[in-house]
Amino acid sequence: MTISTTLLASLITTIQDTINENSDEVAELDRAIGDGDHVVNLQRGLNALVKISDEFNELNWSAAFMKIGMTLMSTMGGASGSLFGTLFISMGKAAKGKELDLSTFSAIFLAGVESVKQRGKAELGEKTMLDTLIPVADSLVADAANHVTLNEALENAKRVAITGMESTKDMIATKGRASFLGERAIGHIDAGARTSQLMICAVMDFIITKR
Ligand SMILES: Nc1ncnc2c1ncn2[C@@H]1O[C@H](COP(=O)(O)OP(=O)(O)O)[C@@H](O)[C@H]1O
Ligand SMILES: [Mg+2]
Repeated sequence: MTISTTLLASLITTIQDTINENSDEVAELDRAIGDGDHVVNLQRGLNALVKISDEFNELNWSAAFMKIGMTLMSTMGGASGSLFGTLFISMGKAAKGKELDLSTFSAIFLAGVESVKQRGKAELGEKTMLDTLIPVADSLVADAANHVTLNEALENAKRVAITGMESTKDMIATKGRASFLGERAIGHIDAGARTSQLMICAVMDFIITKR
């Protein structure tokens, strides 16, 4: 089973709704250990995507991911703008000539996450969005290799996204603004890990119910 880019317009609206519903909480998270602007940066990027979302119907996945990445890169700002931009631009490169199914998507997403690691010079355990993104990539790749059903793989991805996001609470940050706080960052979930988890869960739920 492959998934078409015609789903993108309503998927983007679903993601936007999820972020808007949780915006107060995310703003609070970034205020506690950052500068408070993460959710506004992300909302600016999502608004820009909604404005051009009619165009995605005409594109293949590679071009659509590229366009998403470039739009986020040029509209969001903040560390997260260049990192989410990088994620999608690299996914676009990895998606060249590919249809989207669990196996191709897992490899494409892993390539995107690898680029985020390089761009941010960060790894698992540094209290960033990568603590959500890396476990999700690993789970999808393992499930695709083991021929797990699509629904099961998506449920597993949601579960590890939540566990990964929650794991940032007890971490000291070694990258990003929160790294200036040392031990004082402990006890707060990372804002980028939370928005990444919210968006991943929204995508997975959308595919489970709408495909
Ligand atoms: N080097 C990095 N690698 C991965 N993610 C990072 C890095 N630096 C920051 N982040 C993520 O970006 C989020 C902050 O985004 P945002 O508030 O939009 O940017 P800024 O920190 O410039 O204000 C953090 O919560 C964290 O998840
Ligand atoms: Mg910020």
